[in-house]
Amino acid sequence: MIEGIYELSDLKSLIGDLKDKKALVKVDFNVPIIDGEITDDLRIKAALPTIKWLQDKGVVVTLCSHLGRPGGKEDQEFSLEPVRLRLKELGIEAKLLPNLRFNAGEKTMDKEFIASLVNGQDFFVNDAFGVSHRAEASSVGPTETLPSVAGFLIIEELKQLTSLLDNPKPPFVAVLGGLKISDKLPIVESLLAKVDKLLIGGAMAFTFLKSKGINVGGSLVEDSMIDTCKKLLDSTDKIVLPTDFVAIQEGGSIGKIDDSLVENFSNEIPDGWEGADIGPETSAVFSETISEAGTVFWNGPVGAFEDPRFAAGTSVVADALGDSEAFTMVGGGDSAAAAAEFGLAEAMNHISTGGGACLKFIETSSLASLEALKNSKVKNNG
Ligand code: 3PG
Ligand code: MG
Repeated sequence: MIEGIYELSDLKSLIGDLKDKKALVKVDFNVPIIDGEITDDLRIKAALPTIKWLQDKGVVVTLCSHLGRPGGKEDQEFSLEPVRLRLKELGIEAKLLPNLRFNAGEKTMDKEFIASLVNGQDFFVNDAFGVSHRAEASSVGPTETLPSVAGFLIIEELKQLTSLLDNPKPPFVAVLGGLKISDKLPIVESLLAKVDKLLIGGAMAFTFLKSKGINVGGSLVEDSMIDTCKKLLDSTDKIVLPTDFVAIQEGGSIGKIDDSLVENFSNEIPDGWEGADIGPETSAVFSETISEAGTVFWNGPVGAFEDPRFAAGTSVVADALGDSEAFTMVGGGDSAAAAAEFGLAEAMNHISTGGGACLKFIETSSLASLEALKNSKVKNNG
């Protein structure tokens, strides 16, 4: 039970018998697709319990989702067709609307677009946890006119997040990676208030290192964030930064194997080199810290793991989480894909279907879509 939000089990009291009722069901089928092939269907599978529950009750389900960022116009690169085919393979026969973000009204909360979504529907189910931090036409609009409930996935994700944050078994360790510190600054600040140690890898570590006067060569640095990083480091001793690195000759391509030199460096990265992974010494420190933790939250790979030359650090982190006795939660996106790639998905206590959504919830204890569900005053459809 999440306070103030109706769930599937409330539908009977909200609208009566479900048989032959029509539902608009919002899901997050924003899955990675390469050359038309879905490379990770975690988000599709995670939505199935809600869809099946509704269909078993005789509800006529219309699914809606975004995919990527087509920018408000139709673009076949972002078609949901591969998703429709995968749903069929998974035994689901349901209408799937075109990518919500083909319509500019999805972002602008256009009234006509909302009307077209709710037209003919008896109620609204939001189970799109992965995008629940965004207020969009399809998440907010239907709650204004239709009886609205959260699906099983949203409820489960909230339960997991709440148990992570309410009473984490110490020591509570967070591992953060990713490209830009500017994207993750709010979460760094709010995690520092909660965790005992914050391990930082990925390119965002270089701005912290540079703020300490450490040479990072040609690694990605956000100069405008250097002062902020310095202040953060001065304010706490919880942050653990890499002390050695795997780097590529500047101009070499990360992500596509080429014949550029790749080398390990300790303490500093010389000019002419770009850091792309944490080195073995840092991996060992991260791994040991994780093994001693009571609770671990991981968001963001610590290196460019999609390139095998820079996958070792992320692989060690994933292994350490897999081996750990701690409660382990992986916060979506790239880190979930990494856990899956290294065969460790099963070893985690929870792999969230939402990266940005998890971070937003940790930061603010609130999510735009859930607020819309809470504010929904519609008790029945007549
Ligand atoms: C995600 O994959 O992060 C969610 O589906 C949200 O997508 P968005 O960041 O494009 O809004
Ligand atoms: Mg995202």
